[in-house]
Amino acid sequence: MIKIGVIGAGFIANKFCEAVNKGEMDGKLYAIGSRGLKKAKEFKQRHRFIKAYGSYQDLYNDKDIDLIYLATPHGLHYNHMMEILDYKKNIICEKPFTLNAKQAKEVFNKAKDKNVFIMEAMWTRFLPTIREVKKLITEDIIGDVVKLEADFCFKPNKNDDNRLFQPKLGGGALLDVGIYPITFANLFMGRPKNFDSEVKMYKTGVDIAETIYYNYPDGQAILKAALNYELPLEARISGTKGKVIIEGLHETESAVIYDEKRQTYKTYTNTT
Ligand SMILES: NC(=O)c1ccc[n+]([C@@H]2O[C@H](COP(=O)([O-])OP(=O)(O)OC[C@H]3O[C@@H](n4cnc5c(N)ncnc54)[C@H](OP(=O)(O)O)[C@@H]3O)[C@@H](O)[C@H]2O)c1
Repeated sequence: MIKIGVIGAGFIANKFCEAVNKGEMDGKLYAIGSRGLKKAKEFKQRHRFIKAYGSYQDLYNDKDIDLIYLATPHGLHYNHMMEILDYKKNIICEKPFTLNAKQAKEVFNKAKDKNVFIMEAMWTRFLPTIREVKKLITEDIIGDVVKLEADFCFKPNKNDDNRLFQPKLGGGALLDVGIYPITFANLFMGRPKNFDSEVKMYKTGVDIAETIYYNYPDGQAILKAALNYELPLEARISGTKGKVIIEGLHETESAVIYDEKRQTYKTYTNTT
């Protein structure tokens, strides 16, 4: 069984560990690495790890670890992945993978040189609802996709010193939540020909809200992300014959598919 090392004992690492312990991954929690040993030990006990390390380097040095799940703030992903690759460890890195394409290319090139597995933990791609909608679109139930709207806009109850609002930690709406609407556009319409965007900046120097227009030869995706107002989490995909409403966006468990007569073709609910 894959021996997993976790870096960063924060919010999402907690969720990941709960999922692994529920048997949702073919692996077992082996070592936790935190910037503080006390925190590492508490995390180890909570999630039944075998080992706790009070520094990330100590964890990288553990020869028994097969895969590292990286759950630090995104502004640190690039440096952490480049370090981990020196130890030839496989990596699953939390979203967003890096802050920009240049960093991502460097990381992928290094992973290739080191011959290790590496991926972004963009879990939305693997959800049963997303797979079902992709299948129905491939079966031409809604015709050619010509428009997609996806919104991830919320108002976090956090202070300005939180990672969400800190440029050095990769804060801002685009990198925290905007990458989900973008993932929807990539999944259902592919790479755009070009794009336009409108951005509202915040006093800490991060983007607080944006609308992005992905332009395709025969269509458009309108993608909204914000950390200063709320919208229902939803994606709407329109085709030449019908449409799909995906409820819950990145954590979707249901979708309604309408045919060319505007009748409900299928209501899909994930029951797994
Ligand atoms: N997939 C999802 O649905 C999802 C949801 C939420 C977040 N995320 C992603 O997961 C990553 C972590 O987010 P999170 O919400 O878990 O953040 P978080 O609760 O703040 O945890 C991040 C952890 O990173 C470590 N860390 C190392 N250097 C740090 C620094 N300079 N400042 C703050 N923390 C530092 C800390 O762990 P130690 O003190 O133990 O070293 C901290 O607990 C982000 O990239 C975020 O986008 C993904």
